[in-house]
Amino acid sequence: MDGNGRWARRRGLPRVAGHREGTENLRRVLRAAVEFGIGILTIYAFSTENWGRPEEEVQGLLSILRHVIKEEVPKLHRQGVQLRHLGRLERIPAELERQIEEAIELTKDNSRLILNVAFNYGGRAEIVDAIRALIAEGASPEEVDGASVSSHLYTAGQPDPDLIIRTSGEMRLSNFLIWQAAYAEFYTTPTLWPDFDKDELYAALKDFNQRERRFGLVPGKSSE
Ligand code: IPE
Ligand code: MG
Repeated sequence: MDGNGRWARRRGLPRVAGHREGTENLRRVLRAAVEFGIGILTIYAFSTENWGRPEEEVQGLLSILRHVIKEEVPKLHRQGVQLRHLGRLERIPAELERQIEEAIELTKDNSRLILNVAFNYGGRAEIVDAIRALIAEGASPEEVDGASVSSHLYTAGQPDPDLIIRTSGEMRLSNFLIWQAAYAEFYTTPTLWPDFDKDELYAALKDFNQRERRFGLVPGKSSE
């Protein structure tokens, strides 16, 4: 969800206003995702590197998340959305941590759409955590393989993403799902996140549908 800051700056507003607008947009995109029948949606809300932003912006983002959980979780629950958190809980203020845990517990049996919220998330940290967990379980070197690493990631039990969309014209993964993205299709658009609407999501899905996915095999022999 990139480009909130630029969206605000272009209007002479503080960056936090862009994050608020971006959050409004998430609500719209989520509705469209449910409508389009998307089963799992993962949003990159706050990276482990984002703590280095100015204090005012970090506090603004934390306060938006607190507000969103309070206001939106009951509505998401009614829509059948299951919330999950991808990331480390360390550094997240205790009250917010409690809110996150309650939201996960409340929605855990919902199945219409899984919404993974990557918050205090880093792809390398995720892989490090998975390897640490394997070591802590006493895994032997032979037991460390692609499947065992996958099953210790924050996304354990979920399929790898099919499509990764990045807004605002950047051409980087920026530490997002770096393990899971091995064969994901990548889509970028110059549109800033607050302006990324239902039509754009549809265009991204249409583009995705026209791709030929080969998973390292030869044309016409893909495993799907
Ligand atoms: C939102 O966009 C991403 C978050 C970290 C919440 P940015 O804040 O990165 O916006 P730009 O890139 O400065 O425009
Ligand atoms: Mg950015």
